[in-house]
Amino acid sequence: MLITRHAEAEAVLSDPRYVPPPVRQDGAEGTPAWLRAQVSRFSTGEEHAARRRELVELLNGLDPGDLREQARAMTAERGGDWRGVPTTVLGAALGVAFGVADTGAVADAAAGYLSGEQSPGADAAVAKLLSLAGIPAITLLLQGHAATEALIETALEHAEPGDDVDALLHETLRQDPPLKATRRLDTRTGDEVTIDLVACNRDPDVFAEPLRFDPARGRTPHLTFGHGIRPCPAPAHALALAAGVLEGLLP
Ligand code: HEM
Repeated sequence: MLITRHAEAEAVLSDPRYVPPPVRQDGAEGTPAWLRAQVSRFSTGEEHAARRRELVELLNGLDPGDLREQARAMTAERGGDWRGVPTTVLGAALGVAFGVADTGAVADAAAGYLSGEQSPGADAAVAKLLSLAGIPAITLLLQGHAATEALIETALEHAEPGDDVDALLHETLRQDPPLKATRRLDTRTGDEVTIDLVACNRDPDVFAEPLRFDPARGRTPHLTFGHGIRPCPAPAHALALAAGVLEGLLP
């Protein structure tokens, strides 16, 4: 089933009978498949709640204002070469002792973690990260990496001189989300449900002139950070990292 209406998406994402499609539990220890079986993102019920609490506690120790300033300063220092900046800043804030090449390991590990597909590159990258940090910090880095960089990339495509960075990011999240869909399994029927976030964020019942890119809308009830039982726990952190990079780049 494909969901394209905002109200229906909110209902599914708030209903515990819809769960993330289960992941395999028999991956060899230390592999991306094994990591997927350990994390909040792919678990359900009490296990999900407990794992999520641990992440929220870790996130509560991070100040989005500091992340923003560090991302701005690092982007400027690097002369605008911003790739890897959000992950380096987040890693440092989480106390992960990153070397120069380790944001590449986050990118490689994230590919295997998010897709579940095996590759020698992802296996080596997950092993490397496990030598540097615990599972909660790794989860935050892997969840955040690609979505935050994609948000920055898309916001830059939409940027106009003099734009307010926060307004630009909010409208980019609504109209051109870095994450296009999220999936659930209906535990009653076994059917898979795909929530089309692009369509829901352009639902004419909720957003006036939905196809118009308009940063002046300010905050909108877009679903790009999810909703209900398991929304993104880090929207403030993601926005701070992206805003800091944009401030380091835009005149
Ligand atoms: C623009 C950037 C980001 C977007 C659009 C985004 C979006 C999302 C969405 C939609 C979900 C829920 C997925 C679902 O429906 O099952 C999610 C989950 C999650 N996100 Fe983000 N995210 C972003 C950045 C980040 C960052 C920077 C972090 C870490 C600091 C992070 C950490 C997480 C975690 C840990 C989860 C799993 C939550 C759980 O298991 O309950 N995200 N994110």
